[in-house]
Amino acid sequence: MTPSSQSDTPYLDALRAYAARDPGRFHVPGHKGGPGADPALRDALGPAALSLDIPALTYGIDVGADPTPFEEAQLLAAEAWGARRAWFLVNGASQGNHVALLTLAHTGREVIVQRNAHSSTVDALVLSGLRPTFVAPELDPALHIAHCMTPAALEQALDDTPGAVGATVVSPTYFGAVADIAGLVEVAHARGVPLIVDEAWGAHLAFHHALPRHALSLGADLVVSSTHKIVGSLTQAAMVHLGHGDLIEEEVVDRCVTLIESTSPSSLLGGSLDAARRFAAVRGHELLDETLRGLAATRLAVRELPGLDVLDERLAGAPGVFDYDPLRLAIDVRGTGHSGYALARIVRERDDVNLELAGENVMVAVFGMGEDVTAAGARLVAALRHGVDALSETPEDRSDEPFAPPPPWGELAMSPRDAFLGPQEVVPAREAVGRVAAESLAAYPPGIPNVLPGERLTAETLDYIQQALDHGGSLRGASDRRLATLRVALDR
Ligand SMILES: Cc1ncc(COP(=O)(O)O)c(C=O)c1O
Repeated sequence: MTPSSQSDTPYLDALRAYAARDPGRFHVPGHKGGPGADPALRDALGPAALSLDIPALTYGIDVGADPTPFEEAQLLAAEAWGARRAWFLVNGASQGNHVALLTLAHTGREVIVQRNAHSSTVDALVLSGLRPTFVAPELDPALHIAHCMTPAALEQALDDTPGAVGATVVSPTYFGAVADIAGLVEVAHARGVPLIVDEAWGAHLAFHHALPRHALSLGADLVVSSTHKIVGSLTQAAMVHLGHGDLIEEEVVDRCVTLIESTSPSSLLGGSLDAARRFAAVRGHELLDETLRGLAATRLAVRELPGLDVLDERLAGAPGVFDYDPLRLAIDVRGTGHSGYALARIVRERDDVNLELAGENVMVAVFGMGEDVTAAGARLVAALRHGVDALSETPEDRSDEPFAPPPPWGELAMSPRDAFLGPQEVVPAREAVGRVAAESLAAYPPGIPNVLPGERLTAETLDYIQQALDHGGSLRGASDRRLATLRVALDR
């Protein structure tokens, strides 16, 4: 058999061949490839999608002679991203972060974690039982957003935590800041520990020379990639890539993927990963050429609108920003005198333009690798023009209060797992000072967790969160989003 090349889609082809031959489907799912589905679902998805919804362990698809089409698809993904091995994930990069920390938990009990890690990393601490040493990211005092962890900060954290069995960092961030991955790898490897990079926002980086270099190419040991975000697999379809070092065992990653994966992974999600890999490997460079050109023009047009600016390569060199990923269009709204929340609401209500994220100072629009950015950019710019015009007729609503950085986080009195799963009670917020949190609290902006399960609650932190709420901010992670009550560990 000829080995597949990057222009093939072995898994998607095997699914299509199975559906095309109209086999006797005496297996799940109960819709039987379409006939047993509700007509509205058949209408909405079309018959092809339902016919390709084929379960795992189907002969000729992921069972049979090695490599099966499913294995071939994962081998091609590893080759495309330059990994030792790649795993398809059906629960997003969130699953990748769970896998990463469960993998590290095979070698010890402590880990270095960037404080503004995604909530799935916090959840992974609960799942793995690892005890974190948190490292503050660099904060941008003007934009009120968090950037990346620096190599110097990682070095200090590893000095302070001799038992750490690895470190996990985020790069690129939601706002496009890229970390000094080569520097972070050097620091981690000098101590003999692996570096995990949550590259959820960077699956496209491997496919164009003008983009910041991707983490695997710089020596990262395990890279979590949210393939659906920019490269275009279906929502939830993601990957985890193993690097070429020997600090992480392939079999351990494999058992962790299996541990937390459904025994019925969706073939539609897997097929979309196979296709997205081909699209990126074969046409990524050409598509990204177009995308980058369209985005450069869109950035210029946004900057011409009154009160708006954009984040771009000018940010590189700021603390915690080694490089900049232009595939996000982060718009600085401070010059309008209004918040990103207000502008995002107007563009949605007036022009049905829906953004990825809106904050006090910055809004983020996401562009995909294969979309027509010139047309999409023009639509966005037109909506922003309507929005700033409308806002210019209303009184300014932004406070000019200087940004107070969040107070230091509380002492870690218990592991996140013990606090989250142990005996707990709900108490009024004013009675929670001095108690150990059983949940996480992150005030937006800037969205860095103020409290994580296991940390002792301080009056300063609770006041800070309350003030953020009073100023129109929001709270993530808490069971009571208004912070009237809090879930705390039971004193024993
Ligand atoms: C940095 C980061 N990591 C992980 C994730 C989780 O990705 P997914 O939604 O694919 O589970 C996100 C989602 O936004 C993210 O921003």
